[in-house]
Amino acid sequence: MKKIVAPSILASNFGKLDEEIEMINRSEAGWIHCDIMDGNFVPNISFGIPVLKAVKEVSKKPLDVHLMIEKPSRYIQAFKDAGADNLTVHLEALVHLDRVIHAIREAGMRPGVAVNPSSSLDGLAYILPELEQVCLMTVNPGFGGQKFIPYSIQKVRDLKEMIERTGSSALIEIDGGVDHNTAPALVEAGADVLVAGSYVFKADNPEKNIAKLNQLLGN
Ligand code: DX5
Ligand code: ZN
Repeated sequence: MKKIVAPSILASNFGKLDEEIEMINRSEAGWIHCDIMDGNFVPNISFGIPVLKAVKEVSKKPLDVHLMIEKPSRYIQAFKDAGADNLTVHLEALVHLDRVIHAIREAGMRPGVAVNPSSSLDGLAYILPELEQVCLMTVNPGFGGQKFIPYSIQKVRDLKEMIERTGSSALIEIDGGVDHNTAPALVEAGADVLVAGSYVFKADNPEKNIAKLNQLLGN
């Protein structure tokens, strides 16, 4: 199976968003990671549905939408209409996770669940076969450019073992502090998708750093 690099446009230059998306189109990236923050679930506010629609108009790659918002069930159809291909909701934001996962699939998107660094994976045990991806947060969500949390490597291994045990085909997505130093251990532990914000967009040559991560994924 081909593994995926997903640049996070949170770290991009929003004044030149179309050029940033064109760069991703030319690159070896598989998806475009879009971080939606509401100022409640996380302390930061990023961008919302109108911006996502603008990204969709330029993008040739699937949009991987990561919702860091409270009550995400209110916006499933809105994100589908805006162009989301993958829709990931936070374990910590939901009481009725099963219902929301099925609603995402019924709306025609690939459902994912994101898990904060300190949260246990136990809440995923029964729902794993229903998921297309699990996003392991390897920083506390809300901001780009933070330091990778080292205990996350063991969590990737634990998730990989759970996925194999339950017969799930969910991809393991890593989000936060990914660069050429942290990627090798993550890939060895079982990562399938590497999200990278600062490592791509703050680089002199973003396309080259995307290619570097792609190479570290073994593609
Ligand atoms: C953080 C976001 C990440 C962020 C990653 O809450 O979910 O996707 O953009 O940024 P870096 O790669 O800079 O850690
Ligand atoms: Zn994210």
